[in-house]
Amino acid sequence: VNVNLDLFAEIERLKKEKNAIVLAHYYQEPDIQDVADYIGDSLGLSQQAAKTDADIIVFAGVHFMAETAKILSPQKKVLLPDLKAGCSLADSAPPELFKKFREKYPDHIVISYINCSAGIKALSDIICTSSNAEKIIESVPADQPIIFAPDRNLGSYLIKKTGRDMVLWNGACMVHEIFSLEKITRLKVRHPKAKIIAHPECEAAVLAIADYIGSTTGLLKFSERDDAQEYIVVTETGILHQMEKNNPNKTFIPAPPNNACACNDCPHMKLNTLEKLYLCMEYEEPEITMDEQLRIAAKKPIDRMLEISA
Ligand code: 13P
Ligand code: SF4
Repeated sequence: VNVNLDLFAEIERLKKEKNAIVLAHYYQEPDIQDVADYIGDSLGLSQQAAKTDADIIVFAGVHFMAETAKILSPQKKVLLPDLKAGCSLADSAPPELFKKFREKYPDHIVISYINCSAGIKALSDIICTSSNAEKIIESVPADQPIIFAPDRNLGSYLIKKTGRDMVLWNGACMVHEIFSLEKITRLKVRHPKAKIIAHPECEAAVLAIADYIGSTTGLLKFSERDDAQEYIVVTETGILHQMEKNNPNKTFIPAPPNNACACNDCPHMKLNTLEKLYLCMEYEEPEITMDEQLRIAAKKPIDRMLEISA
C-alpha cells in the first residue's frame, strides 16, 4: 500500500461507497479502534452483527467472531482483515473430540463460551459470553447438569459464582494464562492504591486477588464509574486504549506477563492491521463463507443466548 495514502480517510470512503460497517473488538490495535463504527466485547459485537443493515460487515477481531457474525447475518458479506487471526482458546476444542466428550454425559446440556468454532457451537445448547454467562447458567433449571466449554478458567470462576457443579472442558486462552501472580502482587506493593481488574479467562489465583472481574466492556465501564486513580489491568493490552481515552486523569498499568520474553498482546488479534483492514475493504476479501447446514446448527444456541440477554 502506498505510504502516502491516508488509510483513515480511505477506510471512511470505502465504508460509505460500499455501505460497510467496521466492528472492532477492544483487543484490536488503537488505529483500528479509532476507525471502527462500533467497538465492543463479544456480546455487544454479536448483537451489532445481528441487527446492522449494512451490506458488508468488516470484522476487526478473530475468526470465531467474524464467523459468529456470518452465522447471524448470512445474507451479508463478512470480511476479516486476516483470515489467519484465530484463537488459542477456540483451537483448544476440536469438534470431533468434543463430540466424544459430550457423549460421555448424555443427560448434560452444553453451555459454550462464544470463543469456539461453529463446529462446537453446533454441538452446544446455549452460547454465552463473559458478560452474560452467569445469567445464561441461571436460566437453566437447577437440577439440570451442565457441561461448560471450552474455557476451564471461566468455567471454574462460574462454578464459584453460581454454585453450579459443571463439567468443564480443559481449554484456556494463551493470553490470560500468561499473567504472573507474583509479578502482579509485586506491582500492587508498589502501587498500593491501584485496583486490580481482571478478565475471567485468567487463572483462579489471579482472579482471587482482583477487585473487579468482568468482560472487556465490564472492565471498561468499571474503570469509568469507579473512583480509584490507578488500575492494574489483567487482560489483553488493547483495552487500555479506550480506558485511557475515556479516563484521561486515571493511570492504567498493564499487568506483567510471567517472563520478560512473553507479552500480553493476543498474537491472533494483533494479526489485523490498519493496512490489512483497508485492503480487505478495497478488495472485499478475505471473506467468511460457511456450510449452510453447519450455520443453521450453530445459529440455534446463539439465538438462545441473544433471547436470554435481550
Ligand atoms: P470479551 O470481550 O467478550 O470479554 O472477550 C474477551 C476475549 O478474550 C475475546 O477474545
Ligand atoms: Fe482467543 Fe485469548 Fe486471543 Fe481472545 S485473547 S482471541 S480468547 S487467544
